[in-house]
Amino acid sequence: GTQEWAAGHGKVILLGEHAVVYGRHAIAAPLPLAIRARVEDARDGTTLLIPRWGIEQRLQQPARPGSFLQSLTLLLERLGLSQRALHIQVAPEMPRAMGLGGSAALAVAVIRALDRHCALGLDDASVCALAFECEKIAHGTPSGVDNTVATHGQALLYRRGEPATIRPLALKQPLPLVIGLSGSESLTARMVARVRQAWLQHPARYERIFDEIDVLTRHALDALEAHDLGELGELMNICQGQLNALQVSSPEIEELVQLAREHGALGAKLTGGGGGGAVIALCPDNGARVARAMRDAGYQALEVCFG
Ligand code: MEV
Repeated sequence: GTQEWAAGHGKVILLGEHAVVYGRHAIAAPLPLAIRARVEDARDGTTLLIPRWGIEQRLQQPARPGSFLQSLTLLLERLGLSQRALHIQVAPEMPRAMGLGGSAALAVAVIRALDRHCALGLDDASVCALAFECEKIAHGTPSGVDNTVATHGQALLYRRGEPATIRPLALKQPLPLVIGLSGSESLTARMVARVRQAWLQHPARYERIFDEIDVLTRHALDALEAHDLGELGELMNICQGQLNALQVSSPEIEELVQLAREHGALGAKLTGGGGGGAVIALCPDNGARVARAMRDAGYQALEVCFG
C-alpha cells in the first residue's frame, strides 16, 4: 500500500498569502491530502513517474526552467545522487497547480523518499530547506510557508526571516472548510511576480495593503483562539477584498466566493497564489449546501477540516 511511501502534505493558507512574501504573517494548515513518493534503484538513468498527472520523464539536461525536473536535478546534485540511476514514483492525492501547495508537497515527498531509499539521515530542517530550494525554482521568491507546512504537517503561524518564525497552532476545534477548485491552474509564480512588479513601482501603496492583510491575520489568530467563527469569516471576506486589490483574483474565484457566501458560508476567499486555483469557504453549518452549489455551477468542491 502507499502507507510506506514518503509523504509531503498539501496545505491551505487561511489568511496572509502574498503579504507573507513581504515579511507579514500567514496562518496555514496541512490538508488531509498528501503527495506520496517512493524510490527504487533503476538499471539505467533516472526517471520520474507521476501516472495520475500524466507525467513520465527521463532526467535529461537541460530541464525546462521552473519545472519539477529542474528541481529534481538540483536535489540529486545536492544530495550527491547525480550518478545514481533511480526510479522515482509519485502518487498525488490532490490535483496539481490548484494553489494547495502541490509543488512543495511534491518536493518534500520526493526528498523524503530519496532520504529513505539512500539512507541519507536528513532531519526535518534539512528536508524543509531543500524543499525551499525547489520552491525557488518553481516560484521565484517564495516566502517558505508552503514547504514548511508540507514538511511539518501541522497548523502554524508563519513569518519569513532568518530563521523563519514558526509558531504551531493548536486549534480548539478543527475548522470546517469547503475548498472550491476554480478549474484553472493557479498561477502562483506569475501572481507573485505581478505583485512584486506593482510593489516595485509603488512601494508605499503596496506596503499599506500588506500591513492591512497582516492586521487581518493577527485578528484571525484572536478569533481562532476564541473559536469565534463569525469574526473569522468576516476577516476572510475583508482579506479577499485586499487580495482583489493586489489583482490576484479571477472571475472564477469571484464566482466561487459569491456562491459560497450566498449559500451560507461565514466567509470565503481565495487561498494560495490566486490567478486561478482554489477558494476556501468557512462553513460550520452549510458545508454540504455550499459544496453542492459549487458543483452545480460546474466546479469541484471538497469538504475538509482545517487544523
Ligand atoms: C502560495 O501558496 C503563497 C504565496 O504567498 C507565495 C508564498 O508565500 O511563497 C502566494
